[in-house]
Amino acid sequence: MQSNTSKPDFSVPQEELDKQAQYAAMAESVLQSRFPDRKPRAFVHTYGCQGNVADGEKIKGILESLGYALTDEIEGSDLVLYNTCAIREHAQDRVFGNVGKRKAWKEADRSRILALCGCMMQQEYVAEKIKKSYPYVDLVFGTHVIYKLPEFIYRCLCDGKRVFDLSGGDGNVVEGLPVHRDGTFKAWIPIMYGCNNFCSYCVVPYVRGRERSRDFDTVVAEARHLIAQGYREITLLGQNVNSYNKDKDPSLRFPALLRAINDIEGDFWIRFMTSHPRDCTPELLDTMAQCEKVAKHLHLPVQSGNDRVLRDMNRHYDREKYLSLIDYARQKMPDLSITSDIIVGFPGETAEEFDDTLSLVERVQYTSLFTFIFSPRPGTKAAELPDPFDRAEKNRRFKALTDLQEQIAGRRTAAMKGERFCVLVEEPAKEEGFLSGRTEGNVIIEFPGDKSLIGTFRTVEVTEPKTWVLKGKLIDDKD
Ligand code: SAH
Ligand code: SF4
Ligand code: F3S
Repeated sequence: MQSNTSKPDFSVPQEELDKQAQYAAMAESVLQSRFPDRKPRAFVHTYGCQGNVADGEKIKGILESLGYALTDEIEGSDLVLYNTCAIREHAQDRVFGNVGKRKAWKEADRSRILALCGCMMQQEYVAEKIKKSYPYVDLVFGTHVIYKLPEFIYRCLCDGKRVFDLSGGDGNVVEGLPVHRDGTFKAWIPIMYGCNNFCSYCVVPYVRGRERSRDFDTVVAEARHLIAQGYREITLLGQNVNSYNKDKDPSLRFPALLRAINDIEGDFWIRFMTSHPRDCTPELLDTMAQCEKVAKHLHLPVQSGNDRVLRDMNRHYDREKYLSLIDYARQKMPDLSITSDIIVGFPGETAEEFDDTLSLVERVQYTSLFTFIFSPRPGTKAAELPDPFDRAEKNRRFKALTDLQEQIAGRRTAAMKGERFCVLVEEPAKEEGFLSGRTEGNVIIEFPGDKSLIGTFRTVEVTEPKTWVLKGKLIDDKD
């Protein structure tokens, strides 16, 4: 499908990609001569959202193409790379902690490479701190230059100097990079990058650049390829999937993409995240209802149930609009499972305003919630706002919210007793002999079964519903 050429062009010039292919060949031959008897080993760890995990899979794919073998063991590795997240301060602190722990590893053998990339690095003050306080870090690069990894590795191997590339700008869309998929039956497909929403608390638009959509046909072809390889679940990723192709082709928006992937032959589920309520339309909900392969699960982050707070968060919807979307969705899909993200303690949030969040949660009856205490992010508007409530008060509200959700989830799961669900069997559960499966609505059920069932759809009956873990038994044993 042709993109409209009057719109911004985010592609990277072919000569730049050709140059990277040359660097890849050069890095590979240097590595072969340095490691004549074994492959060099790379340990890659990703923090943050699934979008970052998908980036991590590209990073691993590139490293493999240079000749690295991936490893889970830090000690025996030749390269350690942390792909970081900046969404909350806590996420950043964990990275600094881990980088600190790698000092001895690096100093034991200076030819080892310690690398940092991802959203956190895209903030100037972080890159400066790494430059000054962590001199043993060899390579730092941002979110827009992953495709240059072959060049970075080559320079680390041959120049003996630290490499920093934090090119900013609006970002790009690079197709054709190798991908090492972590899963064999569940796969991520990023459909867009960046974010234009500038929610006042959020760092993402600053570290990920402007919203840009991947080409429609390229995405559908990738889904077709994965399904042909036997993948059973495809998750379409973007910070706001409902604005897919707003920048490029208004005739091929997100509902059209869901329909096109739903039309691919095969037995699979389609999931997507995240949906921003601002751009969530009745058309999207109708499409979900009509597409039988689209999992009946909607992750629709509300953030707060109070209109003043939502306005100051710059979310562009109010409580009423959000609730009317929920009502419409439930009317079209009575069994729809709805989940959300909520921020507690946004600057100036009063006890009464927080009560509006509690009453919204009670009204919606979410399947589950991701709850966060507001974390001021340098450079964002909300970080500058007066914030009179102390941490103890925020912790109290946080607990009130999680207690309420626990009661709601407990009631929901109790009602599932005796019901049968189709699950995608994902992994062995903690309990010996048990497997863990996920329903269409994103609820986990654990049941006794053989590991050979992993990666298949099965029917399970809930026998013992607890609030967070449901126990069940396998009903069929078809292939
Ligand atoms: N694009 C998605 C959210 C991505 S970030 C959306 O708009 O819905 C995931 C979640 O992290 C957000 O929904 C929000 O609840 C939380 N979050 C983001 N910035 C935060 C901050 N500064 N403090 C606390 N939580 C935050
Ligand atoms: Fe952040 Fe808002 Fe964009 Fe989500 S939509 S990534 S919360 S700015
Ligand atoms: Fe974190 Fe970046 Fe994702 S800040 S949540 S890894 S887009």
